Amino acid sequence: MKQEKIILTGDRPTGKLHIGHYVGSLRRRVELQNSGIYDKIFVFEADGQALTDNIDNPEKVRQNVIEVALDYLACGIDPAKSTIFIQSQIPELCELTFYFMDLVTVSRLQRNPTVKTEIQMRNFETSIPVGFFTYPISQAADITAFKATTVPVGEDQEPMLEQAREIVRRFNFIYGDTLVEPNILLPDNAACLRLPGTDGKAKMSKSLGNCIYLSDSADEVEKKIRTMYTDPNHLKVSDPGQVEGNTVFTYLDAFSRPEHFERYLPDYANLEELKTHYRRGGLGDVKVKKCLAAVMQEELEPIRNRRKEFEQDIPAVYDMLKKGCEVARAAAAETLSEVRKAMKIDYFEDQALIDEQAARFGSH
Ligand code: TRP
Repeated sequence: MKQEKIILTGDRPTGKLHIGHYVGSLRRRVELQNSGIYDKIFVFEADGQALTDNIDNPEKVRQNVIEVALDYLACGIDPAKSTIFIQSQIPELCELTFYFMDLVTVSRLQRNPTVKTEIQMRNFETSIPVGFFTYPISQAADITAFKATTVPVGEDQEPMLEQAREIVRRFNFIYGDTLVEPNILLPDNAACLRLPGTDGKAKMSKSLGNCIYLSDSADEVEKKIRTMYTDPNHLKVSDPGQVEGNTVFTYLDAFSRPEHFERYLPDYANLEELKTHYRRGGLGDVKVKKCLAAVMQEELEPIRNRRKEFEQDIPAVYDMLKKGCEVARAAAAETLSEVRKAMKIDYFEDQALIDEQAARFGSH
């Protein structure tokens, strides 16, 4: 049988999605969805994974499940083309995680660089919840239960994908070819790998208050751009400015296309020309920010409007999620029945086993 091309990707519902999520993955997902080259697409909310470091705050996860679903729909993830589902509603994922636990060592998990940084960030050093520590295993189950071939995620997820691939190789070596090795699909534009916060800090994060959300109003976006971090040494318009590490230019790298310049800054053919002028001196931040605002509003406006529309019928959004969970569960159940067979724990489906044991014990 020809190998199907299957996409799976997801997010932890711990907050509304911001433009870092958008340029880093959502925009690409929609393109991939609409490319027509994939046989199946699964997009899911990793609420179980979100709980691994929010176990005392279930309300946060519960509230954000609907926010993230709205963000997905707003960006153009289309339930007619992609199955949108919620991790906790697929018990097969827990079962698969349970089996995978035996294929991974503690020291292997301790070497995972993403988990290492996360442990530091959360001050978990002295008391790491086991579920948090082992979430890369559960993530491998998320991916392999759907036989995903392609996982579009940010570069911080690379160690998770490597872990998943190792598990698949080990599983298939021991139990025979059953699971599919997934490939990571990274963002194609360097500026999109990790969009900095509006304050110039490396990461956009809710706690730093440096995010632009997909659900922000036009006014909020305008204001956040107006106060955005630029080159702190670019004091007078005539001063030469630095483009590297200048958030406004990083955002232009991520959002602007040549045709935007015709519309919003016709004196420049493209972003390169604008950068050259800025470096030389004589170009003020306000002008660059105005251009960025125009470019970003053009892209965010339709998203904002679609979100508003979906907000008008929230029960329909829950209904869509429920249907997605049913479709996803059927797919995972199919893989799990193959897994149980390969692992020789499919006792009741295996008449040959029953006959063989009957003969061994001389029963009839
Ligand atoms: N760890 C991912 C994140 O924090 C979310 C996630 C969970 C995921 N399971 C996944 C992503 C499987 C891709 C595939 O964003």
